[in-house]
Amino acid sequence: MKLLLGGLCLCWAVVLSFSYPWMKHLPNITEDELSQEHGHPSRAGFPNRCDGLGFDAITLDEQGVAYFFRDAFLWKGFRAAAEFINKTWPGLPDHIDAAFRMHHKNSPEQHDRMFFFKGNHVWQYNGNKSEGQFLIQDKFHEVPDNLGAAVECPQGECQHDSVLFFKGDTTYLFDLSTNTVKVRTWTGTHQCTAAMRWIDRHYCFQGSNFTRFNPHTGQAFENYPKDARNYFMRCEGRGHGNKTVDPSIYNRCSNRSFDEFNEDELGRVYAFRAHVYFRLDSKKDGWHPWQIHSTWPSLHGKIDGVFTWNKKMYFIQGSQLFIYKAEAQYTLIEGYPKPITEELGISGAGVDATFICPGTSLLYVIRGNQVQSVNLEQTPRVLGNGFQIAHSHVDGAMCNTEGIFIFVGTNYYKYSSTKEFAARTETPDPHSISVDFMSCVH
Ligand SMILES: *[C@@H]1O[C@H](CO)[C@@H](O)[C@H](O)[C@H]1NC(C)=O
Ligand SMILES: *[C@@H]1O[C@H](CO)[C@@H](O)[C@H](O)[C@H]1NC(C)=O
Ligand SMILES: *[C@@H]1O[C@H](CO)[C@@H](O)[C@H](O)[C@H]1NC(C)=O
Ligand SMILES: *[C@@H]1O[C@H](CO)[C@@H](O)[C@H](O)[C@H]1NC(C)=O
Ligand SMILES: *[C@@H]1O[C@H](CO)[C@@H](O)[C@H](O)[C@H]1NC(C)=O
Ligand SMILES: *[C@@H]1O[C@H](CO)[C@@H](O)[C@H](O)[C@H]1NC(C)=O
Repeated sequence: MKLLLGGLCLCWAVVLSFSYPWMKHLPNITEDELSQEHGHPSRAGFPNRCDGLGFDAITLDEQGVAYFFRDAFLWKGFRAAAEFINKTWPGLPDHIDAAFRMHHKNSPEQHDRMFFFKGNHVWQYNGNKSEGQFLIQDKFHEVPDNLGAAVECPQGECQHDSVLFFKGDTTYLFDLSTNTVKVRTWTGTHQCTAAMRWIDRHYCFQGSNFTRFNPHTGQAFENYPKDARNYFMRCEGRGHGNKTVDPSIYNRCSNRSFDEFNEDELGRVYAFRAHVYFRLDSKKDGWHPWQIHSTWPSLHGKIDGVFTWNKKMYFIQGSQLFIYKAEAQYTLIEGYPKPITEELGISGAGVDATFICPGTSLLYVIRGNQVQSVNLEQTPRVLGNGFQIAHSHVDGAMCNTEGIFIFVGTNYYKYSSTKEFAARTETPDPHSISVDFMSCVH
């Protein structure tokens, strides 16, 4: 943490706003919202969102529910049938241009409010409660009328809490800290009819297609556009993902173990399992198993160890070490992967888990019931004498300001310090990973 605070990266610092366990005030979500076993329910006289006609606007609300708008219709979440917009927001016009949920931590009277746009007007809502109707030019100076789309961009992903507005080929970056606009013609965000930020990804929808883009550079990611009907809704005969993969990998509530956990210096918390990961600190907006290589380029398959140090994220896979710069996006440092023997003084493969506590340089490497440490500030790095722990085997480990978490099967064990971890001859009481970390019912 010390380097984060002193370094260049202050602009990206995000305040940690959650604590463990995460059981309290959680929604009752037992399955992946996007598992596509059934088509959408439909309602006579209402359109079906699988018709390929796309959306006028998409936004999440303050509780993380996604809303899809077209004409006078609204779809709540990823699976419900259509209803009228005015059932939820009676004051809105029967067709909107754009909508977004504001992320503005420094302005509690606007944070998490929803804004809806039509022509030259904007409507502000707190949940379903109207907080007024304004002219766009009064509320968002220099943002044009008749918008195509809008989406939040929190600090960390943009330089400050911001809103991205789209119209035709132009993107307007509205910085909420200064109320000023920067105009961009980004290739990744042409002709957005709707835009959405989901978990930690930004998407521009063009009709029924969507493109993932980097909100800092406006670049589109590879292999887009994709058809939204395979991803953001349940449409008969459609879907994505590899159906031959064991579903217990993708189901975060299954009794399958996790390989590793990590929290980085920007407060992003991840659970890794086989070739996918779950982001834990954005649970409010939902859950999704993402491919590891979609966030950490070149990293394919199961990992053995992960830790964060000095604004970088380190992965151990077999005998190899991958190092990523941990900024808004993760970038693989040139020349990596390299052998862990050279880089960390760890001989051979067989690492079960690793952790490093915030503000220290001491990496702990767990193999079986043996723990050894290596001081990352020393050259050459050598693995020091170790200690034995009360667990015969661990899957993953993580250390943050709350203590050390050891993950074994479906349980985790909490230690207040490395001293306690080394000294205990019996394990503390187990707790459920799926309940406390993954918001599952059991
Ligand atoms: C969660 O939802 C399931 C299915 O809808 C229900 O059976 C269960 O009782 C709920 N659990 C809690 C704790 O609300
Ligand atoms: C809601 O909107 C629909 C479609 O525009 C309209 O037919 C209906 O009368 C509206 N209901 C109310 C209560 O305003
Ligand atoms: C408005 O929100 C409140 C609080 O969440 C809820 O109880 C109420 O049912 C909502 N009303 C409508 C019309 O959705
Ligand atoms: C959607 O993308 C496909 C290519 O991936 C393209 O052929 C098609 O024209 C696009 N449709 C729209 C409405 O942009
Ligand atoms: C699906 O997963 C299986 C087993 O993990 C793998 O062999 C296969 O190549 C994958 N298929 C695709 C299309 O990725
Ligand atoms: C996990 O659950 C499945 C079915 O729900 C069961 O067959 C299997 O034995 C369980 N595995 C473990 C390790 O508990």
